[in-house]
Amino acid sequence: MSKTPVSELLDAELPRFTYGADYNPEQWDPETWLEDARLMQQAGVNLVAVNIFGWAQLEPLPGEYDFRRLDQVVEILHEHGIGINLGTGTSSPPPWLTAEHPDALPMTADGTRRAFGGRQAYCPSSPVFREHSLALVEQVAARYGRHPAVKLWHVSNELGCHNAHCYCPVSASAFRAWLEQRYGTLDALNEAWGTAFWSQRYAAWEHIQTPMLTLSTGNPAQAVDYLRFSSDEILDQYRAEAAVLRRHSAAPVTTNFMVTAHIRALDYWGWAAEMDVIANDHYLDHRLAQPTAELSFAADVTRGLAGGEPWMLMEQATSAVNWQPHNIAKTPGEMLRNTLTHVARGADGISFFQWRASVQGSERFHSAMLPHAGTDSAVWQSVVELGRTLERLREVAGTRVVADVALVFGWEPWWITDLDSHPTTELRYLEQVHRAYNALRASGVTVDIVAPGAELDGYRMVVVAALHSVTDEQAATVSDFVAAGGHAVITFFSGITDGVDRVRTGGYPGAFRELLGVLTEEFFPLHPGETVALDDGATATIWTERLHARGAEVVASYLDGPLPGTPAVTRNAFGAGAAWYLATNLDEVSLARTLARAAADAGVALDPALAGSELEVVVRQGSGRSYLFVINHGDTDALHPATGTELIEGGDIAGTLVVPAGAVRVVRLSAQAPARPTAESTPDAIRESDREEVRELR
Ligand code: GAL
Repeated sequence: MSKTPVSELLDAELPRFTYGADYNPEQWDPETWLEDARLMQQAGVNLVAVNIFGWAQLEPLPGEYDFRRLDQVVEILHEHGIGINLGTGTSSPPPWLTAEHPDALPMTADGTRRAFGGRQAYCPSSPVFREHSLALVEQVAARYGRHPAVKLWHVSNELGCHNAHCYCPVSASAFRAWLEQRYGTLDALNEAWGTAFWSQRYAAWEHIQTPMLTLSTGNPAQAVDYLRFSSDEILDQYRAEAAVLRRHSAAPVTTNFMVTAHIRALDYWGWAAEMDVIANDHYLDHRLAQPTAELSFAADVTRGLAGGEPWMLMEQATSAVNWQPHNIAKTPGEMLRNTLTHVARGADGISFFQWRASVQGSERFHSAMLPHAGTDSAVWQSVVELGRTLERLREVAGTRVVADVALVFGWEPWWITDLDSHPTTELRYLEQVHRAYNALRASGVTVDIVAPGAELDGYRMVVVAALHSVTDEQAATVSDFVAAGGHAVITFFSGITDGVDRVRTGGYPGAFRELLGVLTEEFFPLHPGETVALDDGATATIWTERLHARGAEVVASYLDGPLPGTPAVTRNAFGAGAAWYLATNLDEVSLARTLARAAADAGVALDPALAGSELEVVVRQGSGRSYLFVINHGDTDALHPATGTELIEGGDIAGTLVVPAGAVRVVRLSAQAPARPTAESTPDAIRESDREEVRELR
């Protein structure tokens, strides 16, 4: 399905960024709505999401609809020139639905029902929920489908955030139907699930259940199929709602994804094609070691889902959230840096949760565009400043990020690599992907995130991290890419099993053995906290393996640990390219050094001055123009080579850009200036007079 350009959603003559928030007028009175609309104008807000949690007000009792308040809100926003991203309102059923149909409540893996009182308390397979939710969508779509203020449809909200996995009998029966569709025959299912093991062979479809809590470990193939089923089941709710909307309205349809480190239930590679606009919600997660690196990763994943086209950030926080153990407020400039990192990485729309901070309910202490303190606040000032900044950057909207390196990532591999009964619990899929990503980011390398098996033409290098289960076809995309001159870096525990997670015998890493020119007999995971030394000065943790070079050149070997003298890092010339194998978990610096070496080997342009610096540099290009984003995460001013026009503060830049501590600068590069670093444009080329200038600034 071809996408609707985000920058054209508002029918502006020229592309522009959308800017706004979730707006929950249900929580406020009509006088406040008017004040809200005026303040939205002041902040430069042009698109708000409404009716996200509106169901209980729109349908207080079954079949009794009341649209009076929403009608008013829609008109007020329209009169103030604010576009609407209209929610279908189905994200949380009203109390009557599950009070009258308790079977529609979700069931957890231990067989207990979850109660009404939070949100999303419904079983995704419930026919009762489906029927009532679609009836509501029908009403909303018929009423507002042609309203000129409706620029976009917002199906439900973060589908599957809380209720992706329901284990109830209704879900079990839907699971069986899904399995029949997938396998056709019980024999095929038994084969794929390996039910010869532990007396699990099924003789009738009705015997198959959802993978509820068992005494010992369960069947891994069943577990993964259930996760696939659950993702599909939730997507089906989206499809059903979108179909109703499309009967009544020509406006594009989307829902907000959750590309984030703590939710992995939805396989968005399978969802992306169904969206008219790709939208993501992202919150800085202070439970992670590197929250801003994860932000960049999520933005790049979202761009990958959008096929490289611009996308929309549907939710983020102006400051603190309320759902982490310690809800850290943003420091001055941090919100702008976060936002412009998303923009640098392809966002053409920026929205927050939420417009006005709630005074009741469990999200009272979540930040908003308009905080409890009102407009006399730093948060409000930053919101108004961001509105202005997005206008100044308007010409960037519609341009694309271009990358030389692809990093493979997927939700299915996340499920599979993290299954239990693996060699070590220390190996976590996302952590391995993040480590590779962070190392490349720290070296200033922009990457595209691609699905396993994706086309790799046009890249110089691909990185495959901990991709445990791969089909022959997926493996071939990497081998063919290398044979044709590309370079690959593959990390440990990749290529071990096939598409149904059956071990590939004859030596690990089965699917990539030939490409890598190595053969591993046995894994030797390390004790938690144990470190081994390598002969090139690196150290490593978590994993080693008894590996033999079979044609590959040995780059580094272990000095100690269980396998002294055994190769740990190898490089194999293969066809016209080369494939590196990282058979252990290198320390951060060595991983960055090795990936930078592989990238340089692949002909990726690297700026050595960026390595280890606090600058994040990304280029967007389009219509013959290049825009250089430089984000300074550090607390000292920094220099970066650039020639062109700076768009945030204004002014010509002749050779050297000064980026104050914590600030962001965006330069429209002069036509003759290189968009990517070259040997001449590295900071070594910065004139001494500019260095003086910065010293004075500090
Ligand atoms: C999102 C959700 C919003 C709000 C926000 C708080 O997950 O879509 O409704 O709850 O989190 O951070």
